[in-house]
Amino acid sequence: MNHKPQPASPKGLRHYGRTLEYVITIFLSVATLGIVVLTLFYYQVTPFFSSGYLQVTSGTIFTRFFLLALTILLIPAAVIAWFLLRISGRQRVLKEKVEFDAQLFNATNDSITVYDLNGKCVYANEHACRFYGYDEEELLRINLYELNAPEYVKTVEAKVDELVEKGELIFESTHVCNNKPLTPVEVDSRIIESGGRKLMVSIVRDITERKRTAEELRHTSERLQRTIEGAINAVALTTEVRDPYTSGHQQRVAKLACVIARELGLAEKQIEGIRVAGTLHDIGKIYVPAEILSRPGRLRQNEINLVKDHAQVGHDLLNTIEFPWPIASIVLQHHERVNGSGYPSGISGDDIMIEAKIMSVADVVEAMASHRPYRPALSIEEALLEILQQRGVLYCPEVVDACISLFTKKGFAFD
Ligand SMILES: [Fe+2]
Repeated sequence: MNHKPQPASPKGLRHYGRTLEYVITIFLSVATLGIVVLTLFYYQVTPFFSSGYLQVTSGTIFTRFFLLALTILLIPAAVIAWFLLRISGRQRVLKEKVEFDAQLFNATNDSITVYDLNGKCVYANEHACRFYGYDEEELLRINLYELNAPEYVKTVEAKVDELVEKGELIFESTHVCNNKPLTPVEVDSRIIESGGRKLMVSIVRDITERKRTAEELRHTSERLQRTIEGAINAVALTTEVRDPYTSGHQQRVAKLACVIARELGLAEKQIEGIRVAGTLHDIGKIYVPAEILSRPGRLRQNEINLVKDHAQVGHDLLNTIEFPWPIASIVLQHHERVNGSGYPSGISGDDIMIEAKIMSVADVVEAMASHRPYRPALSIEEALLEILQQRGVLYCPEVVDACISLFTKKGFAFD
């Protein structure tokens, strides 16, 4: 069984103080009572103020007065002693509590400092002194704003105003320490009231290590991103190597699809997914024989069906990869049309995801504006006229409008 030592608590300290107070008070009370009983016994239960009490008898006068004085003095002495003990007990408990709190503040690995609202330091724990590289007296003379790097002072002033308004606040800054370089810190502050004035308690944590780890993670993430990017481009290239007439098609579709998505106000994360999906959208053509892809002239129906399979094949290939975006679904739907005349599923309207609607417009515009084995390249104007004529029929109206606006008003052009 694991017995953890129980820390002393302020409640425990109060209990100890009261017990001692009770023991001494009971002892004095019992002593007082004993003397009273002895006095009564000495006078044989004679009342103090009887007629014979003041009668002076040889040899007893000293003892009588001594016991009388003792009786009269001891009772108030016991009461005074009780009060004094109570006061001193409380003072001792208070002192122990202050020492307990001070040890508690010094036992932490965080810097705890207290400032008034002008930034004057009124308390700093031992860790704060070690952290800033000053002794307590020096630290108490340094203003809060002097401890922040100059470029953070304005921010900290604003944060102090916000702290006073909200009562508590966590923010980051960079602190100036006496014995080391500028140190990034997290400051957990709250407002307390003491002696009728508001004070700011700040728990300051050195976050150098956290920042370094975050930076390393960012670098690792960027390297990973570049690796994925390379892998995606390599896969995209395998498709285009087999079909030199469509070389660069996927990259250009990705570029146009991204600007359309941005024009429509899609989130950056969605746009990133569209870029990846655009780069890979024809990967399923790896399943189509190269001679079909590059043969001039019209294809037979069975060959057209084979080409149409590329959407489903692309989906099945990409579905095995765990992307943070719905890449496989976008690729599956990139030949669907809003009136349901597309393939492979013939879905329509809102059943088609917005990313796929964007992809279909970008795909058709790029394809029409590029040379194909079976026809020469058309102009951008002809491509835009085609999507305009099919606006709301084959293509999503908002996507068509955004695409036309990009070419005609915003100067977009393929490289
Ligand atoms: Fe396609």
